[in-house]
Amino acid sequence: MAQTFRGRRRQEPEPVRIDLNGVFASAIGAASGIHPEELGTLRPRLAAAIETLQSERAQGLHPFLDLPQDRDAMGEMQSLAEQLREDVDHFVVLGIGGSARGARALAAALDANPRGKKRDAPELIVADNIDPASFSRLLDELDLSRTVFNVVSKSGETSETMAQFLIVRERLLRELGAMDYVKHLLVTTDAEGGSLRQIVNDEGFPSTSFPGGVSGRFSALSSVHLLPVALLGHDVEEILDGAAAMDERCRDRDPEKNPAALLAGVRYLLEVLHGVPTAVLMPYCDRLVPLADWWCQLWAESLGKRVERDGGRLSIGQTPVRAIGAADQHSQMQLYLDGPADKVVTFVRVADAGVELEIPRSYPDLEDVAYLGGHGLGELLVMEQRAMELALNKRGRPTITIEMPHLTAFTVGQLVYLMEVETALTASLFGIDPFNQPAVEEGKRLTFGLAGKPGYEDERAEIERWLAAKLPERVV
Ligand code: PA5
Repeated sequence: MAQTFRGRRRQEPEPVRIDLNGVFASAIGAASGIHPEELGTLRPRLAAAIETLQSERAQGLHPFLDLPQDRDAMGEMQSLAEQLREDVDHFVVLGIGGSARGARALAAALDANPRGKKRDAPELIVADNIDPASFSRLLDELDLSRTVFNVVSKSGETSETMAQFLIVRERLLRELGAMDYVKHLLVTTDAEGGSLRQIVNDEGFPSTSFPGGVSGRFSALSSVHLLPVALLGHDVEEILDGAAAMDERCRDRDPEKNPAALLAGVRYLLEVLHGVPTAVLMPYCDRLVPLADWWCQLWAESLGKRVERDGGRLSIGQTPVRAIGAADQHSQMQLYLDGPADKVVTFVRVADAGVELEIPRSYPDLEDVAYLGGHGLGELLVMEQRAMELALNKRGRPTITIEMPHLTAFTVGQLVYLMEVETALTASLFGIDPFNQPAVEEGKRLTFGLAGKPGYEDERAEIERWLAAKLPERVV
């Protein structure tokens, strides 16, 4: 693994490790576990998937894979972050889906301060929904004169983001006046196309661009999401160094040495041969919960597809679920252990959380309490994760464990890159396109029809027919 990038020296390589023991028949039994021969049979297809991805990359087809090396955009982004840090108390991202989750995931993962803000850094707020109650409350609470709204939309057309933009623009104009309001908007959109770019060109809002050819959910390692992270004072170069180190591992043409290929292979085999349609991601670390949400979107929107094959329609895709360790041991784990054997649980464990709280040795005579004394709270969390892993395996339920030595910019960069490449390779095994979302587009068209967008009259008529066909007696 490369130890330096552009002459910068890292202290420790700290690789993220993936323990796949818990998916194999040797650990969970012949009935549900993967047999080494199954992986052996898949090996040529996995090798071909790696080869195709990397050779298409060489032809410029998958620019998201090259983001860790793309440091030119970083200098400009870092100076923008420096400048914003001076003037801003609140940095509000207005975006949705892949335009919002990356920034939130990275910022949360790197935020050692549970109050959500590094000292002297602005507060990052990701407003990725259009619930009028929470959005109006947010706007009422902000000091607009110390706030910048980063409107993030690659297409520049998404109704939720555009509606937020229109509301915020009008409020800024009203409260700060025509001279000043422009400085409180920063638009991030496609470099050339879309309504938002047209508005930027017409009205002169400060703007940045999405990297060409990178779609929302694969843009977490681009300047779009790294800007807010840099603004909070985190080391974005370290994130990219971590991603670059994982890139080295994920370029390996040998599937058994390539962590993304191995993960893709085992999840594929579990789904196709072992009837496992649900993939749970369960971090034992609160700071990784938003990253699990980002992964759920990456997995669901990229791999949930309908394809025409063998003369029929086939629906593909594991359902991703986010669970939180240890909290969901007292909620979902009962189902995972005793309910249908249809899930693979991927644990994410941080070996050294960097903070430990010793549990006091109180009540020595109460043995049901005293056993806790002297252990660390973090130590207990890791014990609980191990116990759940074994409990699942004993019932023949597959598990994967991702271990991060520490939660740092370097390890988080590795994890994000690993998950993106795994998703792309899994799509290749299924023969689907992970970069589109045709079914979501249908929902968008119907919304346009309801909201009266010209050109969507048929969609409006369709919704009206559907509403009219609802039977009153079936509504109680
Ligand atoms: O991952 C994706 O491509 C989507 O989730 C988009 O990010 C989301 O639909 C928002 O699109 P846009 O950035 O064009 O507003």
